[in-house]
Amino acid sequence: MDKNLLETYKQHLSPALARSTGIVMERGEGPYLYTTDGERYLDFVSGIAVNNLGHCHPKVVAAAKAQIDKLIHGSFNLGFYPSALKFAAALAEVTPGDLNMFFFSNTGAEAVEGALKLARWKTKRNVYIAFQGSFHGRTMGALSVTASSAGYRARYAPLLPTVYHLPYPYCYRCRYGTKPNRCSLPCLEELNWLFACLTPPEDVAAVLIEPVQGEGGYIVPPKAYLQKLAEICREKKILLIFDEIQTGFGRTGKMFAAEHFGIVPDIMCLAKGIASGFPLAAVAASKDLMGDWPAGSHGTTFGANPVSCAAALAVLEVFKEEKILEKCNENGTFFKVSLEELARRYPVIGDVRGLGMMLAVEIVDGEGRPDAATTDKILKFCLENKMVFFKCGIYKNCIRFIAPLNAPRDFLEEGLSIFEKALQHVS
Ligand SMILES: Cc1ncc(COP(=O)(O)O)c(C=O)c1O
Repeated sequence: MDKNLLETYKQHLSPALARSTGIVMERGEGPYLYTTDGERYLDFVSGIAVNNLGHCHPKVVAAAKAQIDKLIHGSFNLGFYPSALKFAAALAEVTPGDLNMFFFSNTGAEAVEGALKLARWKTKRNVYIAFQGSFHGRTMGALSVTASSAGYRARYAPLLPTVYHLPYPYCYRCRYGTKPNRCSLPCLEELNWLFACLTPPEDVAAVLIEPVQGEGGYIVPPKAYLQKLAEICREKKILLIFDEIQTGFGRTGKMFAAEHFGIVPDIMCLAKGIASGFPLAAVAASKDLMGDWPAGSHGTTFGANPVSCAAALAVLEVFKEEKILEKCNENGTFFKVSLEELARRYPVIGDVRGLGMMLAVEIVDGEGRPDAATTDKILKFCLENKMVFFKCGIYKNCIRFIAPLNAPRDFLEEGLSIFEKALQHVS
């Protein structure tokens, strides 16, 4: 695109949205992005964990096009349409346990808002417990539970006053000096301190947690931690909400990360990969929990959009037909083993972690301290070599690899080769 034209257009965009590159995307195909200048980039961002099937999967495109010819928007407040009804039934088949009732909206933050409201409505309690390092969205309610960056919250106070944040079990940088999976979970003991000092459990509507922390650094908690947390919630009649907005739809190698931990939460928030690129989100709960949420107590204009639902239905079909979870696990194992091998040769990689195709490395200095400056150099080198990815982690020193679950092997190998050259460059 003409550089002058780009500068002219840019005048109209708010700077509030952080943008990591200046590339102008024209089209996407599978794991590749093509710019208006005709450059091809390896896309390890996937629209921030949205395009789990790659860009413009032909079956998703065909389903959306067919729906566009019939009905683009009709209002789910006015009546029904087949794509949303069929998608709800298909989604109920893949969600864990009895989470088979849905409220559809458009974005992750909206799903979180819906879940927070449902929890309050159901329990008649008003306190929420969330986690340090967590990301749940930018609207006021979602921002109140978000704690991945002080900068996201700065100058927006007062947020919801009844939110407490516990430390997330970040074993690589354990604050309690214990060893992963060989500890008595002192981080979870913080919950008892909270109940004793700050809020009685009887006031707590819900605990909201990402089963694998995304923006906070692709941190996989110990299984025992989540299981014990679920047990405490059950005992205290506190609703357990899993934010599966980033982990959902196969990203971790199972349809939902909850399955890795053998937990069925009370409420689940879904968005991002649900329609592989179309805006759609859902609050999922059991009929028992959601079935008496009164008409009008929550709402949306665009939620359950017919085109998004048609695309989402196609996504679920593709998962079955193309054995996407198997591919995700094969790719994830290959990529993680390759990263671990790089970590043995390049000490700037302090940790390799993640599940399925939700993988990240933590970049450190010679003392093992977070090294955001080197992380930026790696990203810059890769961008110059036509590979894009995002950082994460509260110290901005983690690099997350969010390739499509079904990415071809040669794409992954090419990415690893560029990444290794970047490691050589900074080492
Ligand atoms: C775990 C998680 N929850 C919520 C959100 C917010 O989603 P959205 O940006 O669609 O509002 C995100 C977005 O990155 C996320 O990763």
